Amino acid sequence: MSEKYFVDGLLRGRVALVTGGGTGITGGVARALAESGARVCLVSRRMEHLEPAAERIRAGGGEALAVAADVRNMEEVERAVAACVEKFGKLDIVVNGAAGNFLCPAEELSPNGFGTVVDIDLKGTFNVSRAAFAELKKNRGQILNISATLHYGGTPLQLHVSAAKAGVDALTRNLAVEWGRYGIRVNGIAPGPIEDTEGMKRLVPPDVKDRLKKHIPLRRFGLIRDIEQAAVFLCSDAASFINGAMLVVDGGHWLATSRFTNA
Ligand code: HXC
Repeated sequence: MSEKYFVDGLLRGRVALVTGGGTGITGGVARALAESGARVCLVSRRMEHLEPAAERIRAGGGEALAVAADVRNMEEVERAVAACVEKFGKLDIVVNGAAGNFLCPAEELSPNGFGTVVDIDLKGTFNVSRAAFAELKKNRGQILNISATLHYGGTPLQLHVSAAKAGVDALTRNLAVEWGRYGIRVNGIAPGPIEDTEGMKRLVPPDVKDRLKKHIPLRRFGLIRDIEQAAVFLCSDAASFINGAMLVVDGGHWLATSRFTNA
């Protein structure tokens, strides 16, 4: 994070496992948690994304471990959790950020295309949360799920992702209720349009981007650092009574896309 909004060492002593932690929004979140003092375990399918991200964290004075695992595969997920605990001795924070996405009209979407995104985003979030449960219970730890705002309305070409993220929201609320008794907090962040992401470059054509910006009340796109700051807050003790919340970080975008406003 370039600006400093939080006291030094806010997350010192914590260990965080971040899926999708090599790149994009969750790559930023992993780095921000490390800058706040957490030791981080980065998990995603591709080691070539993970190692450079882990190296950048180490170069900045943090501690990072890179573990290749596909969140769809429970055995690989369990191995990643075990590797994290073996390296750092425990696990306090899980950030579920691994996600798949492509644009596709519903009538052209294959069942496997639909299922693949649900498997990565939703089932992956369950798998990692489930595999981490015993460790989180020991440490009164917490889970942070990265969702979206797509499913608050109907977003063309995004049926599969909307369905998956709606499930992630349900999982967030259910786990908050079920695991709250163990002191485990389960929250989420729903990012709006974030400009400096691969998703924005790849999925949003320039003309749509121009129109989109006019519908954001704050008249700017989000940046990865906006999500990083929300994540550091939710993972810190400053949020110790926040459980089951989905924090929308979108400049007011989804509210303004109502048919009753021209924004
Ligand atoms: C239609 C597609 C497709 C496409 C894949 N499929 N890409 N269908 N249009 N562009 C279909 C395939 O045809 C296949 O179905 C099925 O999905 C599985 O594809 P595979 O390539 O075999 O799967 P896999 O290698 O596991 O890759 C899945 C993937 C992944 C989802 C495509 O590679 C991926 O997500 N890459 C991008 C990651 C990414 O961008 N993450 C950031 C997400 S941003 P059939 O029937 O042919 O077998 C985000 C924020 C949301 O989530 C908000 C954004 C606005």
